[in-house]
Amino acid sequence: MSARHFLSMLDYTTDELLGLIRRGSELKDLRERGVLYEPLKNRVLGMIFEKASTRTRISFEAGMIQLGGQAIFLSPRDTQLGRGEPIADAARVMSRMVDAVMIRTFAHSNLTEFAANSRVPVINGLSDDLHPCQLLADMQTFHEHRGSIAGKSVAWIGDGNNMCNSYIEAAIRFDFELRVACPEGYEPNAELLKLAGARVRVVRDPREAVAGAHLVSTDVWASMGQEAEAEARMRLFHSFQVTRALLDGAAKDVLFMHCLPAHRGEEISEDLLDDPRSVAWDQAENRLHAQKALLELLVEHAHYA
Ligand code: CP
Ligand code: NVA
Repeated sequence: MSARHFLSMLDYTTDELLGLIRRGSELKDLRERGVLYEPLKNRVLGMIFEKASTRTRISFEAGMIQLGGQAIFLSPRDTQLGRGEPIADAARVMSRMVDAVMIRTFAHSNLTEFAANSRVPVINGLSDDLHPCQLLADMQTFHEHRGSIAGKSVAWIGDGNNMCNSYIEAAIRFDFELRVACPEGYEPNAELLKLAGARVRVVRDPREAVAGAHLVSTDVWASMGQEAEAEARMRLFHSFQVTRALLDGAAKDVLFMHCLPAHRGEEISEDLLDDPRSVAWDQAENRLHAQKALLELLVEHAHYA
């Protein structure tokens, strides 16, 4: 199948990613100026959600409508996927009817299997391993507030989860230094760490990770699918809470990001999203703009097999 997918940041070159976030800012500006821009008229995005979502669903659905197209929300509960229809069959059928498919799922292999059998672009809306759409928004947000992130230092605090893995991929492509502070046994993907080399370092003390950082980011301690571990994780992660005091050890102009949803009093202190260093709301908004740039690239310019 010849369609181009977006399953990981590493599927794209640095220039392509920079182009996407630049385009995201342009599309944001068009929308702020009330300019109608509908290059995806008559195009349809299928969205399969095996996990819950607020931002991802709304930003993709609103994004398609704003670009002149439509989006269809599909959950396993209401489709044959939930009753055991093979992923490859669903991919063959769906991709004959829609122009792109966004999938939020558990095993990353569900995405690669769907993509291998799809005639149209497949977008990773989060898997257990990666969350690349969020990183487009995070990188766009940093660039809008501070300019290029190349050569800057970034701290990831907490679980070495899907978001952390995507930060490692971003460190590789956007060329920044990343320090990950996580408890032992909760490190990010070992292959990605190897690929990143000296650019990414794992430490145990959040203060060490944050020292001098230009961007600090965190996420929930128990991701979707890890509900049974939540209580044990609360105990293990308690010293990894990001607070105003922790941010005081970072660079003076540090930005704080959280992909949301946030659990105040757990991975962040109650007041952190109200701190002037937090750009979490801009970051959430940029999901819309960055993904519109992605849809424009993948759907408008696609020539299907
Ligand atoms: N950040 C993010 O992906 O949010 P949702 O789970 O609400 O989509
Ligand atoms: N790590 C979180 C991110 C949610 C957007 C999860 O997978 O649940």
